[in-house]
Amino acid sequence: MLKISLMDQSDLDEAYKIEKQVNPTPWSKENFYSSFEIGHHSLVCKADSQLIGFIIFSIIKREAHLLNIGIIKDWQNKGAGSLLLESLIKQCKVLGAKKIFLEVRSKNQKALFFYKKYKFIEDALRVDYYSGDNPDDAILMSLEI
Ligand SMILES: CC(C)(COP(=O)(O)OP(=O)(O)OC[C@H]1O[C@@H](n2cnc3c(N)ncnc32)[C@H](O)[C@@H]1OP(=O)(O)O)[C@@H](O)C(=O)NCCC(=O)NCCS
Repeated sequence: MLKISLMDQSDLDEAYKIEKQVNPTPWSKENFYSSFEIGHHSLVCKADSQLIGFIIFSIIKREAHLLNIGIIKDWQNKGAGSLLLESLIKQCKVLGAKKIFLEVRSKNQKALFFYKKYKFIEDALRVDYYSGDNPDDAILMSLEI
């Protein structure tokens, strides 16, 4: 059974392993540790004791920003991402946010479908936002909650 809980410091290395597997421009391990230390909100999804996904977000006043989400490959398309996103939306509401913002690669069709399922709308396009080996534009999306 899938279970959502707050991310613990001991989850960071495992979350970083997932990030390297699923993100073409992954956060570094230091990014994970500093995000945790500066108090970003983060949740994990576990199947029994195995960490299979994470979501990281920040909230400033009434605006939330989804900073990162990743589900281990073997567990994609099995509802874990949905569970994490629904938990994020609930937490954002409780913490007083009114809107959630995110950026997604324009070529990441799967993630675009995923966010649209939750009624995120496309607000803007940032051309050449992602550089390096996998250049891409970013689509800025938001959801009123
Ligand atoms: C995008 C991601 C977070 C979604 O999580 P997931 O656990 O795989 O998604 P779920 O099983 O909860 O699927 C939810 C919805 O996503 C959409 N979806 C999932 N896979 C899809 C696919 N291959 N094609 C189209 N839509 C898809 C569907 O709308 C699906 O809802 P449905 O099952 O009712 O049809 C996950 O696949 C992932 O980690 N991808 C790699 C990292 C990434 O792209 N992160 C986002 C960066 S912005």
